Amino acid sequence: MKVIAFPGSPRENGNTELLLREAVRGVEESGSAVEIFMLNKMNIMPCQNCGGCDETGICIYDDDMTRIYEAIRTADRIILASPIFFFALSAQTKIMIDRCQAFWCEKYILKKPIPEGLFGRKGLLLLVGGMKKEIGVQCAEATAKAFFRTISVPEHKTLAYIGIDAKGEILKHTSALKEAYEAGKELATV
Ligand SMILES: Cc1cc2nc3c(=O)[nH]c(=O)nc-3n(C[C@H](O)[C@H](O)[C@H](O)COP(=O)(O)O)c2cc1C
Repeated sequence: MKVIAFPGSPRENGNTELLLREAVRGVEESGSAVEIFMLNKMNIMPCQNCGGCDETGICIYDDDMTRIYEAIRTADRIILASPIFFFALSAQTKIMIDRCQAFWCEKYILKKPIPEGLFGRKGLLLLVGGMKKEIGVQCAEATAKAFFRTISVPEHKTLAYIGIDAKGEILKHTSALKEAYEAGKELATV
């Protein structure tokens, strides 16, 4: 089973990354490896809305997104992990998502959705916000849902933790790490 993950925080060893690490551990325990794309370190140009993918479903730009397109196309499980920034997914996460407009064209204009493999396609969304308000999670999840729909991932689970702000604070949460581990395990279990 091919599993890929997108950590979307710029903060190394931050809350999102710590949470994701547990989910990855769960996946690995289920017998699958995880290919991780560190979005903050990648060279991904924001979508230019140039229309270059309208008729082909293929982006005309060749940067680190080229690798990501291939990975998304062939993955069975996709983990998206982002902190909440200004009531939304982080910019690093959103830039990658916007470039998936190419998949949107392929699916909705060319009527060629990404085919599901032997295991179907499933997702896991991990969100961490510093504020104690749900609004950021709601907004971020709406965007993530549109992303999953576009890349033909019909089903995803969301784990969201609010009120977690300082670096590493997620480690003190009573259940977050365990839940992420279990979610990773479940994600990669057929
Ligand atoms: C630019 C910026 C904007 C933020 N905006 C929000 C917000 O709108 N809502 C919220 O709950 N937390 C917000 N936060 C707090 C982060 O979500 C919080 O610190 C989180 O734990 C960061 O996760 P990380 O350690 O994985 O980067 C913001 C932080 C930054 C740096």
